[in-house]
Amino acid sequence: MGGLRRLEYRGYDSTGVGLVDGDRIAWAKKAGKLANLDAVLEGNALPASTTGIGHTRWATHGAPTDANAHPHLDAADRVAVVHNGIIENFMVLRAELEAAGYEFLSETDTEVVVHLLHRELQQQDDLSEAVRAVCRRLEGAFTLVFADALNPGVVVGARRNSPLVVGRGEGENFLGSDVAAFIDYTAEAIELGQDQVVTITADAIDVTDFHGNPAETTAYTVDWDVTAAEKGGYEWFMTKEIEEQPKAVADTLLGRLDQDGHLQLDEMRLTDDELREIDKIIVIACGTASYAGLVAKYAIEHWTRIPCEVELASEFRYRDPIIDRSTLVVAISQSGETMDTLMAIRYARQQRARVLSICNTNGSTIPRESDAVIYTHAGPEVAVASTKGFLSQVVACYLLGLYLAQAKGVKYGDEISSIIDELHQVPAGIQRMIDEGDQVRKLAAELVDRRSFLFLGRHVGFPVALEGALKLKELAYVHAEGFAAGELKHGPIALVEKGLPMFVVVPPRARDQLQEKILSNIQEVRARGAYTIVLVEDGDDSVVPFADVVIRLPKVPTLLQPLVATVPLQIFACELAELLGHDVDQPRNLAKSVTVE
Ligand code: F6R
Repeated sequence: MGGLRRLEYRGYDSTGVGLVDGDRIAWAKKAGKLANLDAVLEGNALPASTTGIGHTRWATHGAPTDANAHPHLDAADRVAVVHNGIIENFMVLRAELEAAGYEFLSETDTEVVVHLLHRELQQQDDLSEAVRAVCRRLEGAFTLVFADALNPGVVVGARRNSPLVVGRGEGENFLGSDVAAFIDYTAEAIELGQDQVVTITADAIDVTDFHGNPAETTAYTVDWDVTAAEKGGYEWFMTKEIEEQPKAVADTLLGRLDQDGHLQLDEMRLTDDELREIDKIIVIACGTASYAGLVAKYAIEHWTRIPCEVELASEFRYRDPIIDRSTLVVAISQSGETMDTLMAIRYARQQRARVLSICNTNGSTIPRESDAVIYTHAGPEVAVASTKGFLSQVVACYLLGLYLAQAKGVKYGDEISSIIDELHQVPAGIQRMIDEGDQVRKLAAELVDRRSFLFLGRHVGFPVALEGALKLKELAYVHAEGFAAGELKHGPIALVEKGLPMFVVVPPRARDQLQEKILSNIQEVRARGAYTIVLVEDGDDSVVPFADVVIRLPKVPTLLQPLVATVPLQIFACELAELLGHDVDQPRNLAKSVTVE
């Protein structure tokens, strides 16, 4: 249950556990969050056991009901399975199994797997062999974990396109969708590759491919400890993660310059010659990560003069994009497991593009399938809404832009070190925004009954506006939209009515032209009755006459402003959600790691 609690952020529609108990699997499962299962077990404890599996679900096929919760079992409760992903050929398999007399109790795609395994175990006793035979019949994406009452002391897992890691303990071993599941017990982990089956007992770990051939794996030590994955006195992970942002940014910058002021990126496996061949960059990502990509576009094009497009990963491969060997595809993903992004990079590599990923999760699939990686060092992000993940992605994008500029020879050591110096100042600015959070929290209390919010920005303030709106939608369940301020007059201004709260991110004063334009935009909406909440740097009073609320930002170079301007918007969304009584860490209908397309 402790392991499931740590994984609950990945999906929280229903939960279940199954434990080997004599010649059967004792199980319990329940719709809703883990607390519901806790309540079931309180009244009806399962027997003590040293072999078991558990699951917390984000529904794909079948509503989040007790019957659809995992584990799924065969009719005799001999074998049990938990599953992440989607079995794409489940309809065909279900028809085949029903014809053979198997009765289905749920609407899930998963249930076919347990019946296939049951049938296989009628032919042979070896659980691992039987699992391999089942996997060979499955199409789609899956992490599967099995327990069999007639093979006590053994748990078998399998993965294709969906994450599964092994934890190596002493006299005990673990499997988990991510290391958080077993970090209380061990920091020693093993990354599994694609299409592998792993068999664990208390003392042994055996990994093969789906045909039984021994397989290569990579061992690593998790570099964060258990406290990083705990709330540590905070009410919400999100609050804690917002407050960890100065450190996340500082850690992502750490040790990137050598003595001569040259940027070093440890997993940049592309040579300078290869980078010099790049004539186009396409950034692909989803949600918040895609907004980090939008910031990257401004920075990368400015510093490198290489054209840079940003595209939603879910759209990328379906539009026949023009890519070749000289295209660098940059995938941004906090989790490293987002299926849309993974499929997009696979497509890009098939088209011979080089793929670089920006990722926060060591050993996850996207970096493993990339030609190069820049790891962000934000530590585990547990709240479903990304905060420190986003800021550290933005920093990694800047590092990439500077590195490309260095390789191309358009920026040299001293210029790069001076931008890195400016970046090193930013954590103090982020800290200030956190320290001044009460102003934003009061504002949330004042606006708690509003059902609609707009966000405006220009230049890199535009992705900040999009991010502010997304945070508010996903946490407070209110209508919120972000716009490029210049677009307002092309339609959205029709939404403006008396009292509509509008956040406006004002670019630093250094950008005179942008400033003037946004000043006009603020006046336009004010004239129509909007309630203007203006984020503007210290010392800039030009907007004050048109602002109902002024939120002061520390002075930073224009390109770096998203790192400070995003913070009050995160705090606002978090506070509004809390005031509305929502679960801040686990908003409805969402999951942290979206491993289905
Ligand atoms: C929003 C949020 C999501 C993720 C998106 C991509 O707060 O967290 O929009 O940014 O699902 O996730 P990763 O970065 O793990 O690929």
